[in-house]
Amino acid sequence: MQEQIKNINSLEELQALYASVFGKNGTMTARLKEMKNLDNDARAALNTENTTLRELFKVRQAELEQAALMEKLAGERLDPTLDAAPENKGTIHPLTQALKEVSGILESFGYTMHTGPEVEDDWHNFTALNTPAHHPARDMQDTFFLPNGNVMRTQTSAIQIRAMEENGVPIKMFGVGATYRKEMDATHGPMFGQIEGLYIDKDITMADLIGDIRAFLARFFEVDNVELRIRPSYFPFTDPSIEIDMKFRGDKWLEIMGAGMVHPNVLRNCGVNPDEYQGFAFGFGWDRLAMLKYGLPDLRELYGNDVRWLRRYGF
Ligand code: PHE
Repeated sequence: MQEQIKNINSLEELQALYASVFGKNGTMTARLKEMKNLDNDARAALNTENTTLRELFKVRQAELEQAALMEKLAGERLDPTLDAAPENKGTIHPLTQALKEVSGILESFGYTMHTGPEVEDDWHNFTALNTPAHHPARDMQDTFFLPNGNVMRTQTSAIQIRAMEENGVPIKMFGVGATYRKEMDATHGPMFGQIEGLYIDKDITMADLIGDIRAFLARFFEVDNVELRIRPSYFPFTDPSIEIDMKFRGDKWLEIMGAGMVHPNVLRNCGVNPDEYQGFAFGFGWDRLAMLKYGLPDLRELYGNDVRWLRRYGF
């Protein structure tokens, strides 16, 4: 019996054997019932056998339970060589990334960064920019008007007026911020990020403008040379005015920015003598530049904050 208990390898079998010995009809139970008929020595021997067997069952049960636990733990064991569950790391948004790159390049050219209010008054958004009331060019941009006569800034040119009013000339700065127009398609949203550069000094020419733009675009798009097309255009605040197209992937011309020599009236409006000082201004949507550089197809998605969309384009 003792050997039998030690050799049992499952808790179920052990329980069955225990029942057959100590259960209601168990062999030991029966023998204990007959104990009164035994002499003293036989009684003592039976008692010893009884306790020994009970002890053996207890020990074997503990052993088997321990073995079962070990087996369970082995099955659930941590595998430290497995890869950790993927973590969602934050990345820099393409708009922020592009803004950092653009402002970094312009600052390295000596332009200083300025910002201004998104709700602008008529003077800074239009009148000072040589676009007085009833000027037809006010219709060039579909403006959001506020009931008190202010507007949602339609162009960061407003920041340039503020910068000249505050700092005078010579000045080499760029304004950066959100601008608002009533338009909506794949490449235009009602809000977009605009940057406008301004460089006013005593002998600044159109050649300086083209030179800076060329160098800027080459640095931003990380190419040795950019192919540009300069087209005459019209803006009320520059004269002459131009638009600059850039050639992409060998064949496609895309409009990149508007620019020109700052109109004498704009300088006068900011207290600058146009016979002494002149210079250029240029403006572009930096979200458009981000789309072109990172291959993003839809400007509206840039402002959509859908992480799945961003991930698809590597952000
Ligand atoms: N403000 C113009 C626009 O929003 C761009 C521009 C800036 C043109 C500076 C000329 C000079 O379209």
